[in-house]
Amino acid sequence: MSNQKQTNKKHIKIFDTTLRDGQQCPGAGMSHSENIEYAQLASLIKVDVLEAGFPAASEQDHAIVSQIARMYAQQNRSPKVAALSQLREAQVVQTIEALAPLAKTKRGIVHLYMPVAPELMAASLGSYANDKERILHDVERLIQLAVTAGMDVEFSPEAYSQMGTHFDFTTDLISTAIAAGANTINCPDTIGRACYLQGDDYFVNHMNQHAAIMRERFPDRDITWSVHCHNDFGLALQNSMHAVFHGPATQIEGCFNGIGERAGNVALEQCIMYLNAFGHSQPGQAYGTGCRAKHIRRISDFVAQHMLPRQPHWPIGGDNAAKHSSGGHTNAILKDAHIYQPFNPSEVGQQVSFLFGPLSGSNHAQSIIHKHGYVCEDHERQAIMQFIKDHHKDRRKGLTDEEFMAAYKAYRQPIKVTQIGFERTGNKKHFAMQATVFGQAEDINFICQDSDTATTALHEYLGQRFGSCEIQSYRSESKMPGRDAPAHATITVAAEGEYHQGKGQDHDIETAALLALVDAYNQLLTARHYRHQPEPETHVAVGLRD
Ligand code: KIV
Ligand code: ZN
Repeated sequence: MSNQKQTNKKHIKIFDTTLRDGQQCPGAGMSHSENIEYAQLASLIKVDVLEAGFPAASEQDHAIVSQIARMYAQQNRSPKVAALSQLREAQVVQTIEALAPLAKTKRGIVHLYMPVAPELMAASLGSYANDKERILHDVERLIQLAVTAGMDVEFSPEAYSQMGTHFDFTTDLISTAIAAGANTINCPDTIGRACYLQGDDYFVNHMNQHAAIMRERFPDRDITWSVHCHNDFGLALQNSMHAVFHGPATQIEGCFNGIGERAGNVALEQCIMYLNAFGHSQPGQAYGTGCRAKHIRRISDFVAQHMLPRQPHWPIGGDNAAKHSSGGHTNAILKDAHIYQPFNPSEVGQQVSFLFGPLSGSNHAQSIIHKHGYVCEDHERQAIMQFIKDHHKDRRKGLTDEEFMAAYKAYRQPIKVTQIGFERTGNKKHFAMQATVFGQAEDINFICQDSDTATTALHEYLGQRFGSCEIQSYRSESKMPGRDAPAHATITVAAEGEYHQGKGQDHDIETAALLALVDAYNQLLTARHYRHQPEPETHVAVGLRD
């Protein structure tokens, strides 16, 4: 006989209310088709329930919920669809209608709510708040209506965490709801003010008490206890996890990227990853979700693009969550891709990446140069890094790879022109350029005569000196009016099947063209002398830990 203790596994259901509570937050509303697109992603990530909206709010909301219900009805393993309704018969009927395609398979959930906090009841129900008998009767009647129509029912005592003196009334409500056929009791921290330091008043303690009472009253019923936390004090994750690890909750309601009323709801991606990371840490009891975490980045991007912008440093799905810049961190990651990450970012569809910034180091600089297929010897990487930092000393926010490589090429610059002058004799112009060529001081002299342009003459000279290439295009413009306006020249040369574009700027249009040609040659010579085959990007793509 094995003396190993059995681990009990609890499936924690994920109830995604991004389309309902999420769209209640100012500025997060989406078009009909975007709602449908979101529902497809929610199905891909495999949330257990998608709350698709509030059908009684408008015809359009009704149409959205109805289309999602029809779409999911075609799929065998789609999430269940919930839709919110106040405790009013007309609304319940509209909600049942919108969810009708799911009635046969019992995958539609009418989500009814009724405030229980004394102040909230008075403010939102008026005199009805004082008629508790009528409220209980309506709860019973409307839940029965939904159940008879083939719906599951979730009942939320709104502002459960603020129930205060209404514990017994809330007990009666929950009891009535279960007796009428509700299968899920959702306990919201509606204003995000719950904290375990409240002691006996803490809503998870009340959830434990209510769960015990209902177990006794309904021993044969399998009730799902659900938690719905807002994040006004930044406690939504802690409160949701408390309800799971120390309370009866087996369902968490929230939104991806934590959007929702005011400071939002608990972020579902945080719940999923929290349970992935710590769900096995209790002896004898494990917790986990059925969600496919590898799609988190995708759904998070969708919410960021179509609903509300996401902070770069947002946990799990944020752009910076797996991006590094500082020297010490990048140095270590280049040796071991998993260092400085709490979990492998590929688990949520992210990739480790780097941004070169003022605090980055020479190893990082060398890795970018190698990634782009250019040479950076160990002995020169410090000097190159310093040059690039000085070159972009005002860019404290970091450089794109393109900007970084442009600075690298400016460092290499095989031909550095320090002065250009010319003398005219008859129909000839004698040009003299002082330059360093691959580090050696050199005078570049060329003559331009008759109808030749100075650019053609320099091109001939450089072609003989460094090997020929073809001028593909030449453009010159002045971006401002007036004689003293600087001229901007762009010249593209072609050689060995590649194009190299050079730019030059000077008050004299001819000099601007000469500088652009030298710049194009510099690009060409840098490619010829400092390039090797690009390396595969092994240092940024992180494989799964084994
Ligand atoms: O926060 C809340 O109380 C709600 C309910 C409607 C569940 O969103
Ligand atoms: Zn809410």
